[in-house]
Amino acid sequence: MTGKRFSAEESSRLYELDQTHWLHPQGDLGAPAGTIPQLIFASGSGATLTDADGREYIDGLASLWNVNVGHGRAELAEAAASQMKKLAFSSAYGGFSTAPAIELAAKLAQLAPRELEVTYFASGGAEANDTAYKIARLYWKLRGEPERVNIISRIRDYHGLTYGATSATGMANFWKGFEPLAPGFLHAPAPDPYRYSGEGSAGAAYARALEDVVLKAGPGTVAAVVAEPVQGAGGVIVPPADYFPQLRQICSKHGLLLIADEVITGFGRTGRWFALEHWNVQADMLVFAKGVTSGYLPLSGVMLTRAVHDTLKEVKGPFAHGFTYSGHPTACAVGLRNLQILEDEHLVERAAEKGAYLQQRLQELRSHEIVGDVRGLGLLAGIELVRDRRTKEPLDASAGAARRVWLAALEEGVIVRPLAGDVLAMSPPFVISDKQIDRMVAVLDSAIARVEKELKASV
Ligand SMILES: Cc1ncc(COP(=O)(O)O)c(C=O)c1O
Repeated sequence: MTGKRFSAEESSRLYELDQTHWLHPQGDLGAPAGTIPQLIFASGSGATLTDADGREYIDGLASLWNVNVGHGRAELAEAAASQMKKLAFSSAYGGFSTAPAIELAAKLAQLAPRELEVTYFASGGAEANDTAYKIARLYWKLRGEPERVNIISRIRDYHGLTYGATSATGMANFWKGFEPLAPGFLHAPAPDPYRYSGEGSAGAAYARALEDVVLKAGPGTVAAVVAEPVQGAGGVIVPPADYFPQLRQICSKHGLLLIADEVITGFGRTGRWFALEHWNVQADMLVFAKGVTSGYLPLSGVMLTRAVHDTLKEVKGPFAHGFTYSGHPTACAVGLRNLQILEDEHLVERAAEKGAYLQQRLQELRSHEIVGDVRGLGLLAGIELVRDRRTKEPLDASAGAARRVWLAALEEGVIVRPLAGDVLAMSPPFVISDKQIDRMVAVLDSAIARVEKELKASV
């Protein structure tokens, strides 16, 4: 299906207004005019996006790792319209409630790993992360250990960009200019199996490195550890299989709450409903967002175990944490319908199956000298570009290799995402076909070849 084109005049009018009036998220403000691609997307269908000029692209990142059921789902539009016609919004403060939010909370309890039974709703992943950190601190105050305030997160983890989440995020480029960060956030190393050269189990070594941070801070000062099961924006890094079981043991040993940030990995992205299921690990809190509605409306939340919830019930007076849009009925109605699509169309199983095919096809790109690593889990994949495959030495940052590959692929109608550390990220919609995967791989193949040649020519 081809999307509706805008006329040339309409496109140029929109481009100009965009430049003048919109401060874009993650906008490249310092970039000279014309050096960043500007695209106005007009429509989408399945794994394809169409821009204002009628050009089609394979949406290899499911937009922002979130449009999991694919674009153009009339069922989701109808779920939103039907709820809006009945009741678009009403307060969820205190004892006020709505059927879609109640039903969705119950459905999530059914889908999430065993003990996670209670949901707090928010709108975005960062809000949900901040909520989890606040709950962790409150939990310890209610348990009589008020000095447990520190939140340990990990280097390269991304948790969003509100102040709490920015402070937890383990990437300094997101701190720069916005300091001081919120107090009480400590950063520990995270697994990097590609570069691990130690002896013995890499998972155990990385779990111990995190425990060292706990011990240094003093376990009695730590409230929680937050971790992405598979690091997304930090480089699509899959941990060794024994890492999370060991991390769970460390948390239990020191009495720390384990918060799983499943904002990217939740709802099937890795081929299981939730990624920690791969390693049979139980979190005390689970943060979700993106895939709960496949991005059709903003919705996020934190799931709590019954034990954490029981402790919160001891709070004297109200639980003084609420957003206007917590439990937004229309967003929850869309969430419910989206989960039904995932179930009816067996899309989690499909993500596992298409994921295996994508991972297998991407391995072929190792034939390029600058491809150091190809990795991933399910429909979440990353390609790391390096100067030297033997030493794993990174490319000169000024070469901007991943960015160049991204631009070359974009020219050919395939959208991936360049990340810091010269990693190309992919996380297409679960409805992507084998043919579209083949096209993604072919386009990446020629884009990498082109950049490899340019880099050689420039030395
Ligand atoms: C793992 C993870 N956590 C949290 C967030 C923040 O979500 P949001 O941008 O909705 O605030 C993201 C966003 O990409 C994410 O990838």
